[in-house]
Amino acid sequence: MIRISKVSKTFQINGEPRTALDNISLEIRAGEVFGIIGRSGAGKSTLVRTLNLLERPSSGQIIVGGQDITALDSAGLQRLRRRVGMVFQHFNLLQAKTVAENIRFPLKLGGELSAAQMDARVEELLQLVGLAEQRHQHPAQLSGGQKQRVGIARALANQPDVLLCDEATSALDPETTQSILRLLLDINRRLQLTIVLITHEMDVIRAVCDRVAILERGQLIETGEVADVFLFPQHAVTRALLAESHQAGATDLQSLRAELGASTHGPLLRLSFLDEAATQPLLSQLSLELHLQLNVLQGTIGRIKGRPFGQLVVELLHTEQDPTLLAKLQQALRQRDIRFELLDEPLEAAA
Ligand SMILES: Nc1ncnc2c1ncn2[C@@H]1O[C@H](COP(=O)(O)OP(=O)(O)OP(=O)(O)O)[C@@H](O)[C@H]1O
Ligand SMILES: [Mg+2]
Repeated sequence: MIRISKVSKTFQINGEPRTALDNISLEIRAGEVFGIIGRSGAGKSTLVRTLNLLERPSSGQIIVGGQDITALDSAGLQRLRRRVGMVFQHFNLLQAKTVAENIRFPLKLGGELSAAQMDARVEELLQLVGLAEQRHQHPAQLSGGQKQRVGIARALANQPDVLLCDEATSALDPETTQSILRLLLDINRRLQLTIVLITHEMDVIRAVCDRVAILERGQLIETGEVADVFLFPQHAVTRALLAESHQAGATDLQSLRAELGASTHGPLLRLSFLDEAATQPLLSQLSLELHLQLNVLQGTIGRIKGRPFGQLVVELLHTEQDPTLLAKLQQALRQRDIRFELLDEPLEAAA
């Protein structure tokens, strides 16, 4: 759907160049919810704004639906903006207009529909976002969540193929955030709409995204399926973002033993399971087979986009009596294709 290829963007600030995007390449597939996460200033908004050319890249290519958008003339650009809808953090509604008029506005600009067709489309959109009863109210009379529903309906008015959401839930409380995310997921499925969603919250990524890209200082540092990135983060920044949201994959290895208390002495391992592996009674099997005891110190289980996962930190006991236990356990885990990390060696061995 979207191919971003070697895109860079440099701003001039008081005559000084500042690189906001540094040679970014990635692909966003049709029909997926693609998340972009990173710290403030990482370049998320700049990247997303290049997708409808609100920001023009300094170099590189952006292909949307087979078309290089950096080469479009102004008529082509107008058509592009209709195919790519956008939802904003602070809603950007017209305060003097009603809910229905706000949604009707982009249809009028499009200039292709009769008045009756516009009425019908507005009605359809009001139903879709659940605002039929608020149609004659003004934005000031709406809650934040309702305002964002208007923003979403407006962005969908001209039946875009892609919806860009820049921190669309950041101004909302957690419960309202959930309801807006559910709406976006519902729209994604029902309309087979591609959604590109920027957030600084890992929880949002986990709740709705299929794949995710992590930006740091203008660079793409990691990208992949959400479950894989959550369980097997490759980059320190990803791990830090996960740690801040208390997600699986998060723990800072060094501080772990201290955090878990002085009572632990044996080697610590982190086991990560995805899909099939997450449904097996692994720990009891290993205990029986290898005659070893595992102490579960920390654990998360759940689902990421429907994929069952689990992540456990376990301590292997009694290695002082049988020093071969650790090697046996590691071998058994490898045989079963279970991903694991040895977080640290037993204290006795280290001492
Ligand atoms: N119009 C602009 N002119 C000059 N510099 C800009 C402009 N827009 C963005 N920048 C700079 O580009 C960098 C990336 O900004 P961007 O807004 O894309 O970050 P972000 O990841 O969206 O951050 P946030 O999470 O705070 O929204 C920052 O250093 C910012 O100061
Ligand atoms: Mg931003």
